[in-house]
Amino acid sequence: MDKALEKFGNDIAIAFSGAEDVALIEYAHLTGRPYRVFSLDTGRLNPETYQFFDTVEKHYGIRIEYMFPDAVEVQALVRTKGLFSFYEDGHQECCRVRKVRPLRRALKGLRAWITGQRKDQSPGTRSEIPVVQVDPVFEGLDGGAGSLVKWNPVANVEGHDIWNFLHAMNVPVNSLHSKGYISIGCEPCTRSVLPGQHEREGRWWWEDAKAKECGLHKGNIKQEGGGENGKAAQSNGAATETDIFTSQNLVTLSRTGIENLAKLEDRKEPWIVVLYAPWCQFCQAMEASYDELADKLAGSGVKVGKFRADGEQKEFAQKELQLGSFPTILFFPKHSSQPIKYPTEKRDVNSLLAFVNALR
Ligand code: ADX
Ligand code: SF4
Repeated sequence: MDKALEKFGNDIAIAFSGAEDVALIEYAHLTGRPYRVFSLDTGRLNPETYQFFDTVEKHYGIRIEYMFPDAVEVQALVRTKGLFSFYEDGHQECCRVRKVRPLRRALKGLRAWITGQRKDQSPGTRSEIPVVQVDPVFEGLDGGAGSLVKWNPVANVEGHDIWNFLHAMNVPVNSLHSKGYISIGCEPCTRSVLPGQHEREGRWWWEDAKAKECGLHKGNIKQEGGGENGKAAQSNGAATETDIFTSQNLVTLSRTGIENLAKLEDRKEPWIVVLYAPWCQFCQAMEASYDELADKLAGSGVKVGKFRADGEQKEFAQKELQLGSFPTILFFPKHSSQPIKYPTEKRDVNSLLAFVNALR
């Protein structure tokens, strides 16, 4: 902990929510160095959890950097699907709006983050998490693949050892633990477990164990049934159907739309188009950058589009649009029918913008 805080200084933060995380805060506190803590307030936490957060702030004399979901996105979800849509079509969509996108925003301001994940927390998805890794899903401050370190210092520590430490150090804990809760998330998606039941059984209990990652740690979910070129992990469940790239400044191209665009020798304006699959983690990782690109280029004379190129469109996209792996990004110049493929895996907004500006 001491080394990480020294190395990353203000660019590292602890992702705080549960018992493991308050142990991490205690460790950070013991180093005597300044440290940052953030938490994703989904708006659906238990009252006891909010109380616990407040106690932690006071106990350590810190301010937790709360991240909130985007109000317009929550409104759209709840107005169209109601307050408990996750019981019907899976937790992924709500988690994406209330947790994953706010997390992505938080991580964009960091070079490293510290989580309290443990291997034995979720045998289905976490049994192989390393202590330190290059974040397989999210981007950090500098943007692009490899720009964020994910540190899981208690990966190999067992639950009872965390609790021994918490008791020994007199660290505050969530009062729900004394009511039979072990792993605690949002109120509607968390329940207590019986002695002998695994802690993960108290989370999203109506879903298949393999899907029990909300997207914060999506890289833990193993690829199933051969993803894209052996690279992208395809998560299962309803998440696969939630679309991405939702900026209103972005044009959704149909098959005919992109066929017409590709045919033109002279276009009114140049286009940049992402060929994507909504379940692809690399596409999801660049969602915020690409939406921002669309917003920045609105009215600039360059059109920004997206074409969903999985499923039955894949063969066409591979043959006609240079689709390799997802995402593939193409620039259609004003005066040429030949699109130019974005050459790197650096997909932060500044790199994308530099590419567009060089070619427009
Ligand atoms: S979850 O993905 O299923 O919700 P879990 O509750 O097991 O995650 O927590 C694993 C780690 O993810 C925590 O130790 C913490 O670092 C991070 N985490 C989980 N929920 C939050 C949250 N609401 N805010 C910040 N970090 C969180
Ligand atoms: Fe929504 Fe439940 Fe996910 Fe919380 S855990 S964000 S309430 S689906």
